[in-house]
Amino acid sequence: MEAAALGHFVSGLDKATKVIIVSNRQPWFHERVAERIRAFRPASGLVTALEPIIEAVGGTWIAHGSAPADRLVVDRKNRVRLPEDNPRFTLRRLWLTPKEEEGYYNGISNRALWPLCHLVYTKPRFSRSDWETYRDVNRRFSDAVLEEAGSSPAIVFTQDFHLALLPRFLREARPDLKLIQFWHIPWPNREAFRIFPWSGEILDGLLGNDLLGFHIQNHCNNFLDTVDKSMEAKVDYENFSVWRGGRPTFIRPFPISVDFRQIGIDAGLETVQAKKEGFLAQLGPSAAGTKICVGADRVDYTKGIPERLRGFDLLLRRNPDLKGKVTLMQLAAPSRTQIEEYRSINDEIEGLVEEINRRHGSEAWRPVHFLRANHDYHAVIAAYRMADVVLVTSLHDGMNLVAKEFIAARTDGDGVLLLSQYTGAARELTDALLVNPYDTDQLADAMLQAFRMPEEERRQRMARMRAQVEKNNIYEWGRKIFEELLRRVSFGKGRDAAGKSPRPHPAAGRKHPYLAVVKYLTYRCSSAILGKVNSRLPGGPA
Ligand code: F6P
Repeated sequence: MEAAALGHFVSGLDKATKVIIVSNRQPWFHERVAERIRAFRPASGLVTALEPIIEAVGGTWIAHGSAPADRLVVDRKNRVRLPEDNPRFTLRRLWLTPKEEEGYYNGISNRALWPLCHLVYTKPRFSRSDWETYRDVNRRFSDAVLEEAGSSPAIVFTQDFHLALLPRFLREARPDLKLIQFWHIPWPNREAFRIFPWSGEILDGLLGNDLLGFHIQNHCNNFLDTVDKSMEAKVDYENFSVWRGGRPTFIRPFPISVDFRQIGIDAGLETVQAKKEGFLAQLGPSAAGTKICVGADRVDYTKGIPERLRGFDLLLRRNPDLKGKVTLMQLAAPSRTQIEEYRSINDEIEGLVEEINRRHGSEAWRPVHFLRANHDYHAVIAAYRMADVVLVTSLHDGMNLVAKEFIAARTDGDGVLLLSQYTGAARELTDALLVNPYDTDQLADAMLQAFRMPEEERRQRMARMRAQVEKNNIYEWGRKIFEELLRRVSFGKGRDAAGKSPRPHPAAGRKHPYLAVVKYLTYRCSSAILGKVNSRLPGGPA
């Protein structure tokens, strides 16, 4: 499926229905550059994936306006049409006070939920006043959605963990809204989740949705198990749904992707070529003719950047003949710098880079170039085009779109992807060199294997990965989500896609202890079997 087809599909659902996307991160931010205000796309997997979708379906995107010049371009209702050169959707900005930003974004979203959901051994931190702010800000997003929807029917497509309470608020105010949410990060097992002090409210909020999506089946299983063990709700393991307050929420895996075709087109632009030359100039003459490894990440402790550097260090220690023949270029977008763990991961990385360069480098050759900046989209594509090997070594990642963007950019059919087995992407990209990033020896071995891989094998692997990303592109992801919504809820005159009126689930509000036990055991057996199958697949359980 391509952009136009998705737009056509969604507008055909019901002409009167508005589409509203809601997220914390905005798809474009505005900044002053030499007396002019310019729009930029932030470093965000969510934006990479959703921006093409909103362009295809039109509608309104509501998000936090967080950049210095954001207020200067909006109208009286805080709206701006985007993209600048060919406007296709409306961005409605919502402003937060520093206190709101601290409690809702830094506090609950990034000090609590982020480490709670990523199993990377960073402790989550909780604060009741942050929680109250998180609730208030979710309420403010709800007010903005209701204002944008007016009295029209609307599909509200909420993104991520910043807005877990929003669907319940919307459901209470407008029971007729069609509510979808996609959770862009992993959902942990219930033992990990249960330490969250307000877990009941988070789950109840999410169960305000009609449809709740995760990247992979394993996260869906974890979610159902968490709900089943911690709250009053009817979990239907056959249909993968939860009934609460007489309504179902369907839980489904939708592996997210990128705009394969567009990235391929953009990879051929002159701007990209110019950025590539800029990088080569920055790396200096000593990098010319060396094998280039590229990493492109937000500076985040989940991304495994120190682990990658240690693997590279070990590679050079074990293979001194590689000195002067390989270069690691790490693009690093500063992220969440108000949070202590993010500042210390940055210091750790800078220390490691210095150490490796001191240990192995010479006057003529620098092994690691750490380019800490917000590199724009074209620069990142240029880096992928330069790479002999791209390194994705996340310790835990819902999907990881760097992997898919790299593949989409390689229209020349060459390049090797070294990919952590703890990413959602590893389920689909089995032709990557899959690694456990905690295992430094394995990382060094895999890097060597990547450098030595014969061209024919590189091309075969890349061709298979390109076919996979082309097939499951971002529009296909969108189509599957909207199609599932269509299947599950009624559109227009109180009828669903099959022409039936919605009926309450037979088990809703009643208790069938024996049936529940049988269903639960069936689920446990099938997830145990699935677990076994998964653990034998490359990638293992996420
Ligand atoms: O994909 C997870 C996510 O938190 C997105 O929601 C977000 O856009 C991205 O990572 C980058 O993080 P942030 O928006 O906090 O900069």
